[in-house]
This record gives sequence, C-alpha cells and structure tokens, in this order.
Amino acid sequence: MEGPVMLEIKNISKTFAPKTVNEVRALQQVSLQISKGSFTGVIGTNGSGKSTLLNAIAGNFELDRGSVVLDGQNITRWPEFKRAKLIGRVFQNPFAGSAAGMSIAENIVMAMRRGRGWSLRTAVTSSERREMAEKVHSLKMGLEDRLDNPIGNLSGGQRQALTLLMATWLKPKLLLLDEHTAALDPKSAAKVAELTSKIIAEEKLTALMVTHSMQQAVDLPGRIIMMHRGQVVEDFRDEMKQRVRVPDLIRVFERVQKMELFDQSVAEMLEQQYV
Ligand SMILES: Nc1ncnc2c1ncn2[C@@H]1O[C@H](COP(=O)(O)OP(=O)(O)O)[C@@H](O)[C@H]1O
Ligand SMILES: [Mg+2]
Repeated sequence: MEGPVMLEIKNISKTFAPKTVNEVRALQQVSLQISKGSFTGVIGTNGSGKSTLLNAIAGNFELDRGSVVLDGQNITRWPEFKRAKLIGRVFQNPFAGSAAGMSIAENIVMAMRRGRGWSLRTAVTSSERREMAEKVHSLKMGLEDRLDNPIGNLSGGQRQALTLLMATWLKPKLLLLDEHTAALDPKSAAKVAELTSKIIAEEKLTALMVTHSMQQAVDLPGRIIMMHRGQVVEDFRDEMKQRVRVPDLIRVFERVQKMELFDQSVAEMLEQQYV
C-alpha cells in the first residue's frame, strides 16, 4: 500500500544552547519515514519541536546526530540553500515567502529559475509569461491581471497563495508547510488550505504540514504524527488514521501530559528521598 520512501529521518537530535541554563532538547532521537506522494500532518503542543523538525529537514542548522536522506540522497551535510532546490517551504508569516517591493511576476521568475544560476537578469519570455498567467489564474484570486503590481500591495491570503504557488513551481521532492494558514483570517485560511490540498493532489507532492488545528489534521487525507518534547509520541496512519477523531487526539495529548507529570513527581519524590 505504501509507496517507496521519499524522506528518511534516522535518529536525529538537536539541543539548543547545550550545557547552559537555556538548554532545550528540541529534537530527541527522532526517526521517521515518509512515503513518496504521501501527506503527513504534524501536531503537538507549543514548543514540542514541530518547527524544529521541519527546520532540521530544510537544513537551518547542523544536527547533533542522526541523518536525513531525501529520495535516496544523504543530505545531512548539505547547506540550506542546496536543499532549497529540492524542498519547497511555506511559513506562517505571509510576508516571509516573497519580496514585497518586487512585482508578482518578478517574484515568480525567481521561483521559476531557482537553482538555474544567475539568469534573473534575462527578460521574461512570452512563454514564461503565459505559464505564469495561467498558474496565477488557477488560484482564482483575480491576480493574473496584476502580475506587474508589487506583491506588498496584496492581502496576507493572496501572498500566502502566491508563496504556495512559488514553493511548488518546480515540483519539489518535499513540501514543508509550517502553520501556513495560522496567521490568516478564517476565510483566507480556508481558501489557502483548499489551494494547498488541490496543488498537492494535482502535482502528487510529498508534503509535511504542521498545523495547530487538530480538526484540520483529522479532515486531511494521510497520516498524523504527534510531537511532544522533541519526540514523535504518536503516529496515526492507514486504518487508525481513518478512525481517529479530534476527541481521540485530545485524549492522547492528555495521556502524554499525565505521563510526564507522573515522571516528574516520581523524579521529585526520588530526589527528596536522597537529599
Ligand atoms: N534557534 C533556536 N534557538 C534556541 N531555541 C530554539 C530555537 N528554535 C527552537 N527553539 C526551542 O526549541 C523548542 C521547540 O521549538 P519549536 O520547534 O519552534 O516548537 P513548535 O514549533 O512545536 O512550537 C522550544 O523550546 C523553542 O524555544
Ligand atoms: Mg512552530
């Protein structure tokens, strides 16, 4: 049932500010296999390591240990810019993914020519322009007539839709979405979520999407992983995923937190006994 593996994460760990009072074990021996063409929702409480997991895959920092293999290539030592040719990303902040002062067309040209060297100065060809207008039209936001307007004049939802289009233009091997609808008003968020599903399905992309909405994770096809304290604590897939509902997820959250409280109180008890 499962396709070939697109992403294989083996035993990755990352501690920020090690051996200081600010030490955070953001990822603790996380292993994960993602199949080609699959969709995975990532949920978990604030600070549980969701963004750090995506950042580790994208190469924002060096790992303390472990490896990341993408489509058979070990990219563990690749710098971020090199991985960016294979990995598309959309962040929570609608202003992060595009250059405000540049036009829609100029922003798209950068996405279209990504990884092809310094060809930005070359004028946009008429066929590129046609392709642009066509894809922008498919967003159904009326932006195809505004290709030469600065992207900074657009709403957050419009910018996020364009960022999504640009992140997927060259059909990345992996699409990483980090709460990319969380900063939008409900209507724009719904629209961008719908576009996301459409593009992922049409382009048959492999995607990893962090969401704060358990309902969204349940409604979307594919797998759900739950993170807690830098670890993947639950993995709902196949029939389990079909059956799982929001109250079940909440119960799991509560159980995980209770176990932690238990661990803490035991630790405290032991500490008190031995001081
Ligand atoms: N660059 C960083 N430097 C120091 N601490 C960080 C950094 N990035 C994340 N953290 C810490 O790592 C933990 C996990 O963060 P993050 O992955 O952003 O959580 P999430 O996305 O699940 O809310 C948090 O305690 C956060 O403060
Ligand atoms: Mg985050």
